[in-house]
Amino acid sequence: MEKPQFVRFLFLRVDPAWRRLEAGVQRVQKQAFVGRLKDFRARLLLRGYSLVGTRGDTDLLLWQVADDLDPFQQLETTIFSTALGGWLTISHSYLGMARRSVYELPDGPGQGGVPPRIQVEPQDCKYLFVYPFVKQREWYVLPLERRQALMEEHIRTGRKYPNVRLNTIYSFGLDDQEFVLAFESDDASAFVDLVMDLRHTEASRYTLQDTPIFTCLQMSLHDILDSLGGAGEEGKERSHARDRSAGGTDPSGFTEVATLAEVPTEGSGRRVYLGAEAIALFRINGQVFAVSDRCSHGRASLSEGTVEAETCTLQCPWHGGRYDLASGRPAGGPVRVPIRTYRVRLDGDRILVG
Ligand code: FES
Repeated sequence: MEKPQFVRFLFLRVDPAWRRLEAGVQRVQKQAFVGRLKDFRARLLLRGYSLVGTRGDTDLLLWQVADDLDPFQQLETTIFSTALGGWLTISHSYLGMARRSVYELPDGPGQGGVPPRIQVEPQDCKYLFVYPFVKQREWYVLPLERRQALMEEHIRTGRKYPNVRLNTIYSFGLDDQEFVLAFESDDASAFVDLVMDLRHTEASRYTLQDTPIFTCLQMSLHDILDSLGGAGEEGKERSHARDRSAGGTDPSGFTEVATLAEVPTEGSGRRVYLGAEAIALFRINGQVFAVSDRCSHGRASLSEGTVEAETCTLQCPWHGGRYDLASGRPAGGPVRVPIRTYRVRLDGDRILVG
């Protein structure tokens, strides 16, 4: 038996006055915010997105998936107990749960006695498109066979776009809308094509509401907070300054990202930036390793993970996924996709990454 999952989409907006705070205060608030949210890693699945640049009435989304409703309340209380939380307001909130569809999916996993997936498993896609969805009441008085036929046309249209993945969240009884639809894709234009195509299906005539639509960009929590403006992380600004400075990148393509003194010698790592890319640096037995800072499973910040010197492996701080530091290959836990590794060169106490 699959356990039902509850899902929440929490959209937050920052008070513009926060951007006028002193830079050091902004940095401390950002770090404390990330630190408090990290405590929730074992209680729910949490994905963060920025909407800066895509919508005017909200700034960030925290997509949450949990086995019951309590973690959502605890997380929100924690958010509003932080100093940064005092500058945040909820712009939109949608609650629902994963549930088996009443319709048979043509040519899909629902056929042949195999039940369709009811778990919500966010993918590693760049974009998420979210909107509440309500059907006209006339839809529900149609005979089931008629609705099944209309849904088959609808589903067949959706399958023409395999690079767009749909999560259907059921909100009946829990929240104001009937569904929340969350589409994941790396290709924003494919999603637009899909929406246009779905407009031509018969089932679309029964749509009562499918707005507002939120176009969200997946990022680490650190990057989301930096997208709000104000002072960025100190290391990030230094890295950008290095990039900009003459000689920041040498002719062989290596860029100075930190000094040895800035990277802890055991256990943990340090996040640095190479342009817009976040990189996690680790020092083990006198050697420096550089890997992508984003876990391929749930986008946790890997520089906050722990390393084991004996096996030269890195453990993700969220769900314990493990990677081989030299190759970036998965070495245990829920991770399946390798992370990117970078070449490292030392020049005195300067660490250069290529
Ligand atoms: Fe799940 Fe890293 S985010 S193992």
